[in-house]
Amino acid sequence: MFKSVFREGLIMKISIVGTGYVGLSTAVGFAIKGHDVTCIDVDRNKVALVNSGKAPFYEVGIEEGLQNAIKNGKLRATTDYSAVKDSEITFICVGTPSDETGKMDVSYVKTATESIAKVIADKPYHVVVVKSTVVPGTTRDVVLPILKKHAATFGLCMNPEFLREGMALEDFLNPDRMVIGELDVKSGDMLMKAYQKFNAPFVRVPLSTAEMIKYASNTFLAARISLINEIGNACKKLGIDVYDVAHALGQDKRIGPHFLEAGIGFGGSCFPKDVSALMHKAEELGTGNEIMKAVLSVNANQRKVIVDMLKRRLSLKGAKIAVLGVAFKHDSDDVRESPAINVLRALKREGADVWAYDPQAMENAKKIAPEIKYASREKCLKDADACLLLTNWHEFRTMEDKDFAVMKNKIIIEGRSILDRKKVSGYEGMCW
Ligand code: UDX
Ligand code: UDX
Repeated sequence: MFKSVFREGLIMKISIVGTGYVGLSTAVGFAIKGHDVTCIDVDRNKVALVNSGKAPFYEVGIEEGLQNAIKNGKLRATTDYSAVKDSEITFICVGTPSDETGKMDVSYVKTATESIAKVIADKPYHVVVVKSTVVPGTTRDVVLPILKKHAATFGLCMNPEFLREGMALEDFLNPDRMVIGELDVKSGDMLMKAYQKFNAPFVRVPLSTAEMIKYASNTFLAARISLINEIGNACKKLGIDVYDVAHALGQDKRIGPHFLEAGIGFGGSCFPKDVSALMHKAEELGTGNEIMKAVLSVNANQRKVIVDMLKRRLSLKGAKIAVLGVAFKHDSDDVRESPAINVLRALKREGADVWAYDPQAMENAKKIAPEIKYASREKCLKDADACLLLTNWHEFRTMEDKDFAVMKNKIIIEGRSILDRKKVSGYEGMCW
């Protein structure tokens, strides 16, 4: 029998604090599922952008989903926290960046919780859900006491996100599993209501377990990347293509084919900070973090490996180097912790004349690396002495020898395996 989404209770009034990659993807995803969503953000420019149907960042499918949601009256944004009052459940999706010591900065989560708590203080019931990535123990030891200070009856959950940038909306709508960390059954049941139109296995656990599942997931994924990179560096010395090795590795179902792409290493607003935060937490607990330390040091070293490879091919002083790809990954405009930014700066320090191109991320790159020249792909390659490919944008896969013919020297090194060997000759890869 067709279950109507419009049956009483299936549509919830949801509020979401933070309209970043996670907050806005979550908001649009819930609106697509029929819920009524209000986004809250301290950044009024972002609020204005969202209400105009524009996303403050590049993300596949997000603007189309946002415009439909606004058109259907399912989504709006505001800077006013009082909007929380009209909703039944509030998701906290504010940033949890690393502080200068590499530990997680929880200040935004605390500020957001304080603001929410004041608004729900006299409501009969309201559920608060922490979706921001917070180290194990934070929801119980930081968020819960703040709520208790202001409100008598409330629910509390921790619901980690597993969204990949560039795929955030897709990943939100099609999760491998839904992790529900719950203070109590009533809180968990309310959160389950928000997700009842999702067909994924649900994992209901205590709050801290949900927090650890998120960190363990990102640390495992980051560890795979550093391990295949360490193996890849050895393969390079042996004249072995690590992608041939990875292909066979992936056929072992205990290993699986994903996250075995060797190269310049991981970046982004999650892996580096999450591994670092868990590493510091383990240090605090005195339980050991040798592998986590190695994951980060191997990753940092990959940026040096590609510069050293180039230095063995030519003197960088005064050389024009074209860098194609600046975003930390394809289908994203995000340059946070992007390996390419480190490489650009290293080349600059060596006295090279550095030119960079990226289909989406140049505006963001200019804000943090203004000393670099940014231009079209053709202008970067014109009379270049060498070219590095550091982000696996699909448009680079279509490149052919004629695209590189404008270079003065044809020295091409890939930090990501992206070029098509049938279309481009004479290039080499970091570990292939
Ligand atoms: C963030 C965290 O970085 C990540 O660890 C977590 O898993 C989910 O939330 P992201 O969406 O990339 O991921 O954050 P970001 O792009 O920094 O956006 C956070 C938003 O929160 C920004 O729009 C910011 O303006 C807003 N914000 C921040 C608030 O609304 N209130 C605050 O107090 C602080
Ligand atoms: C990651 C997790 O995948 C996601 O579940 C979590 O919620 C947030 O962090 P994200 O950082 O957006 O998502 O992108 P992802 O596709 O995981 O790539 C992360 C980094 O690892 C990128 O720099 C990417 O280029 C790199 N990477 C990924 C590799 O170097 N090799 C790989 O095999 C896969």
